[in-house]
Amino acid sequence: MFHEPELNNPAYNDCYFSYDDGLAESLYVFVDGNNMIERFALNTTLTVGETGFGTGLNLIALVRSLRDAGIRDRKIRFITVEKYPLSVERIKELTLRFSDSIEPEMGIFLSQWKSTFASIVEGWNRFSFTVDLISVDCELYYGDVVPFLQSIPTTIDAWFLDGHSPDKNPDMWNETVLGLIGANSAEGTTIATFSAAGIVKEGLRKGGFFIKRRKGFGGKRHMSQGWYGVEE
Ligand SMILES: C[S@@+](CC[C@H](N)C(=O)[O-])C[C@H]1O[C@@H](n2cnc3c(N)ncnc32)[C@H](O)[C@@H]1O
Repeated sequence: MFHEPELNNPAYNDCYFSYDDGLAESLYVFVDGNNMIERFALNTTLTVGETGFGTGLNLIALVRSLRDAGIRDRKIRFITVEKYPLSVERIKELTLRFSDSIEPEMGIFLSQWKSTFASIVEGWNRFSFTVDLISVDCELYYGDVVPFLQSIPTTIDAWFLDGHSPDKNPDMWNETVLGLIGANSAEGTTIATFSAAGIVKEGLRKGGFFIKRRKGFGGKRHMSQGWYGVEE
């Protein structure tokens, strides 16, 4: 694995996604980790919650995976947060290495994101786009994860927890945050994250989730996935 500091988030000195293959990581950890394809095959609309929007790659990967699976006429309600929103130019720079694999999704998203970013306000911002009969309604909270989690308007079906590594960003993984994630969940809500740190698993268990380990992406030993409720 090579290291490219210019591709890091300077606020945390940490990467947005795997330098090796960010798209494959997103598909493995978040899309597959939450069984999104199987669930969208059975549901016309699902609500995804994310901590850490960054470049939007997880959303793009989800849209792409549904299209690749031949799934159409679906709505993704995507509820997410970002403390340091990125410009169109920065998103393009960060995703350049695999840009061919994320078109036309990324281009369609960025044409909406350009105007959203230009007039972004603290708190809730909304934008929508459609790719091949997969429609996305995105509600993005510009600000910190705690007020975001305190003002989510609905119950989340699947969580993508992606807020940098716990050692570099402990504020994203404390018991308050993980408890609020539980408070915005219900029977059937699933969760996936690249991290298998003890503090993450324990906090999620206290928040009401059954958590198990799974092989991590690439060179990572483990990731975590689970669901709201007790062991089945
Ligand atoms: C690993 S990156 C997410 C990558 C992203 N999912 C993508 O595909 O590009 C984590 C993101 O969480 C954001 N973040 C970190 N701490 C935060 C906080 N306390 N509140 C809101 N956003 C935060 C960072 O700015 C960063 O964009």
